[in-house]
Formats: sequence, structure tokens, C-alpha cells
Amino acid sequence: MNPLINAYIQSNKDRFLDELFSLLRIPSISSSSEHQEDMLKTATFLKDKLTEAGAEKARLISTEGFPVVYAERIINPNYPTILVYGHYDVQSIEPIELWTNPPFEPIIKDGKIYARGADDDKGQMYMQIKAFELLNKNNLLKCNVKFMLEGEEEIGSPSLDNFCKENKELLKTDIILVSDTGILSMENPAITVGLRGISYFEVEVTGPNRDLHSGHYGGAVANPINILCDMITKLHDADNKITIPGFYDDVIIVTDEDKNEYAKFPFNIEEYKNEIGIPAIYGEKNFTTLERTGIRPALDVNGIWGGHIGEGSKTVIPSKAFAKISMRIVPNQKAENVALLFENYFKSLAPEAVNVKVSYFHGGNPFLSPTNTKAYIAASKAYEDVFGKKPLAYRGGGSIPIINLFEETLGAKSILMGFGLESDAIHSPNENFPVINFLKGIETITAFYNYYS
Ligand code: BES
Ligand code: MN
Ligand code: MN
Repeated sequence: MNPLINAYIQSNKDRFLDELFSLLRIPSISSSSEHQEDMLKTATFLKDKLTEAGAEKARLISTEGFPVVYAERIINPNYPTILVYGHYDVQSIEPIELWTNPPFEPIIKDGKIYARGADDDKGQMYMQIKAFELLNKNNLLKCNVKFMLEGEEEIGSPSLDNFCKENKELLKTDIILVSDTGILSMENPAITVGLRGISYFEVEVTGPNRDLHSGHYGGAVANPINILCDMITKLHDADNKITIPGFYDDVIIVTDEDKNEYAKFPFNIEEYKNEIGIPAIYGEKNFTTLERTGIRPALDVNGIWGGHIGEGSKTVIPSKAFAKISMRIVPNQKAENVALLFENYFKSLAPEAVNVKVSYFHGGNPFLSPTNTKAYIAASKAYEDVFGKKPLAYRGGGSIPIINLFEETLGAKSILMGFGLESDAIHSPNENFPVINFLKGIETITAFYNYYS
């Protein structure tokens, strides 16, 4: 390993963190219309940082939604090209009262950076920019690099499909490098080789044309909230299997070999329960926790509302009830098919006494990558150098829908070099990212560049 690299990281780490803090201070919540300007500010900040890091032609490319930050450094057209993908948007911050420190005022506490986006994905994306800077400033870059940083990942990347199609030549690459996943622990580095797909809906159940007095009408009119809850309950059976007809038809059966492989993964149920504060684990019958998140689909209600949720009581039968429902899907399920199955089945569950509207938000297919590729082998060596242990090939439960799109429209595979931990609490209050992961990430990425080129 090049001693220059460690020396550079050590002597620049305070500046790296300062810059990351500036990035974390901009509230780039893509799902909220209040933050349109912040999105642009974030994109511009990144464009400038890419230029400072040694990129050429750094610019914002507009899309139907938020702009993509693009930059490149082409040193020799005959060398391989790495395209770095990341996202500069973050999830919303509620419930705000559970943050011990304001989400957009980053601080370091017990060696961890606390802020919305500290891990997902600003912290991890910034490791990529700093690794790139390090290679440039020390004349160690031996391949071409392109950056494509989007602002709509957390809302399902609605503009990216067209963006990729329209910019195929610009985005031409040998491999796509992404830091937006995690490792099992510092002692057990891992490379994510599988992600679940997703299919996301909002449903609306309507009963009477206005909220009704629940004494005058109670018992004689269908209550949309009661009905919605009943419909949701019917989506799982007693074994916690999803009841949508045909839902499992395309799911690849888990072989005993797969099961044995999974059983070898370091996983401690007690620690898992303690970490998230649950009294017992729960899920589909006959599968382990890691199988349930890695190789089995899931259906969850992400939010539910309706009626009186303010202070005190109000005796009312609401006119409407709503829920946001998403499914995580696995190879070989297709988001499109699953969406259709869900919509038909959900509507069929409604009694005549209500009307149901089902709106599709977004979807993406699952991802599975081989481990015998040049990129995987280079990444594996890089983790082994820095973490002192060969990484495990891990299938995660989250989704990054555009990874599939890249393969389809750009014809390029992705390597997922993430450094997050479960305890980073992404999408939750008090999101954090250990400084050591940030620094080791930079080191591992530079090692990957070296092996890959
Ligand atoms: N970075 C996450 C996905 C992730 C995290 C994968 C950790 C594996 C390990 C990403 O930003 C994310 O949150 N994706 C969404 C998808 C979406 C369409 C909103 C998800 O998985 O919920
Ligand atoms: Mn992410
Ligand atoms: Mn996310």
C-alpha cells in the first residue's frame, strides 16, 4: 500500500470533514417542495468541489427534476473508465423531536458524525470525491473517471431513466462505482452483491362524502379507517406470507446451499434485537432474519393516516383513510408485474361500501451481481488491505433501483463499495456515520482504483 495515501488522508482529514459538514448543512430533502433551492445549492457545491478535486468540465445538467452533477477526468481514452454514482438528496427528518442534535447542524460525538445524510449518501458520496482528489493530487490516477451525482434517489429517481438514455455517450464506462450501501461491521467487511427491488403505492379509501358524527352514523356506515386496516391485515396470512395471488410465482426458490451459505454469516440475534429495541424477531415462517431481508420479499405499510389525529378527542367517522404501502422484491420478480398484482388484489379486498384509489409512486427491479468479475476482485482486495479481512459477499435488503437501469441502458455493471453500518440509522432520527468509516472508505476506494486500473 502506498504510504503517500495514508499521509495525505491524515494531513487533510480536518479539511475533508469541514467540507463534508458544509455539504451536510444544506437541507437537500428531495421529497419536500420547500427545499427546491437547497437542491440547487447542494448540486452547485458539489460541482465546485469536484473542480477543486481535479475534475474537468464539472457542470449541472438539468433534467425534468433536480439536476445531475456531472464531471470527468479523461487521462487517456485507452485506459478503463470508472463512473462514480452517488445521490445528494436526503430523506426527510421527521419525527424531528427525536433528534438529540438538529439534523442539519452536523457535529462529531463519540467519533461519529451526526446529521441527516451523514451516511446516506452525502458522507459516502463525499468519500468518493476525496478519494478522487487524493489520486489526482498525488499523480496516482491511472484510469478515466466520470462522476454522476443525482438529486432524486430518495424519491425513486424519476428523471434518471431519460437522463441515461439521452446521455449514453457521455456516461459510457467500464464500471459504475457506488458507495451507498454498508458493511456488516468493522470486523466483518462486506461487499453488497444483491439488493431488493421495490414497488411503492399510496392507497386511498373513501366512505361518506364528508366526515360524519360517529354517534349519529356509527355502526350504520362503513368507516374507511376500519376498512383500510382490515384490507391491510388481509395482505399477510398467519405464516406472514404475502397473500397477493401469484406474488411468489417468480421468486427464485432458496436452495439448501443458499441457506447454508447464509447460516455462515456473522449474525447475533440478541444484538440485533437490542440494537433496534424489539422484544422478539418476527417474519415469514421457516426463514431466518438474514434470509427474510436478503432473499425473501416483504410488504410493509410505511405510513397510515386519516380522521382525527390532533389533540384530544373528536367523535367522527372520517370520509377518507390513506396508507403508503411498499413491497421489497427479489430475483426474478419484476416491479411492473408485482405492481399490477398488488393493485388488482388490493381493490378486490374492498367491500362495496367504500371506494378505493390506488396510486403507483415508483418501482425498481432487484439487483444481483456475480463475484468473479474484475471489479469485484479488485474491490475485495481493497477491503482486505484496509480492513485486514476478506469481505463477505452480502445480499442487502434495501434498494437502489437505478443500478438495474444502468445495466439496461448503459450496459455497465455496478460495484457497490459501501461503508455504512446498521447503527448509522439511515432514514431515522440521529443518522450518523463514524469518522473512521469515512476515512477508511477513502482509503479503500483509492486501493480499488489501484487494483482496477
Ligand atoms: N442507500 C440506500 C439503500 C441502501 C442502504 C441499500 C443500505 C443497502 C444498504 C438508498 O438511499 C435508499 O434508501 N433507497 C431506497 C429506495 C427508494 C426508491 C426510495 C430504499 O431502499 O428505501
Ligand atoms: Mn442512499
Ligand atoms: Mn436512502
